[in-house]
Amino acid sequence: MREERALIQLTDVSKVYRMGTGAIYALRDITLQIPARQYVAVIGPSGSGKSTLLNLLAGIDRPTTGRVVVASAPLNEMDEDALARWRGAHVGLIFQFFQLLPTLTALENVMLPMDFRGAYAGNRRERAIRLLERVGLADRAHHLPAELSGGEQQRVAIARALANDPPILLADEPTGNLDTANAEQVIALLAEIHRDGKTVVLITHEPRLAATAQRRIHMLDGRIVEDG
Ligand SMILES: Nc1ncnc2c1ncn2[C@@H]1O[C@H](COP(=O)(O)OP(=O)(O)OP(=O)(O)O)[C@@H](O)[C@H]1O
Ligand SMILES: [Mg+2]
Repeated sequence: MREERALIQLTDVSKVYRMGTGAIYALRDITLQIPARQYVAVIGPSGSGKSTLLNLLAGIDRPTTGRVVVASAPLNEMDEDALARWRGAHVGLIFQFFQLLPTLTALENVMLPMDFRGAYAGNRRERAIRLLERVGLADRAHHLPAELSGGEQQRVAIARALANDPPILLADEPTGNLDTANAEQVIALLAEIHRDGKTVVLITHEPRLAATAQRRIHMLDGRIVEDG
């Protein structure tokens, strides 16, 4: 049988921050495969390397050593422009503090990734409205982020992450700033997005949320200490 290459493949990846005379090992010799359509939770204490790992998968950051291949792209070999283009097509990102542009409406925030990528010309607006409907916010399309609750802002951010229909969704503590009811809504959306065929990597501190994933990767001191 032919060996299928995983959608996400990290090989001997380390990330080292040089600080004065010392060094911080944010990641140490990580080798990891994530097949397409898997739902993975990454857990571990503060400082264990979770965000560093996610940023490498997104091509936001580069490894000090090792290979990062995602959706067939060798991210560690690509320049900034190539990484930005690749990211626009392949990953949707969701963060703890939403990171919507404050001067744009919900609708405009969702349209932005399509504008950047030059995708869906002619029907960006309809597509953005459909995505806002999907996250239950059709009636908030013309609100600015400051006119939305935290839970609503995060749902706009999820719609924005889906704008270019990327195969991979990466979420870094997306419920970290939400109350329980809003957190449940976000987790339910992520599960639905996964069922629709996307690969989801979720960083969370909450075991209860991690339990909703198919696989849990437990990090400690820049290493994977448990994976199952
Ligand atoms: N730009 C940087 N310069 C120096 N050290 C850094 C930098 N970014 C991260 N680190 C260090 O790398 C380690 C891993 O950081 P990372 O942000 O990945 O942790 P984390 O698991 O996401 O933690 P948290 O749960 O608090 O978000 C930490 O010790 C952190 O201090
Ligand atoms: Mg983090």
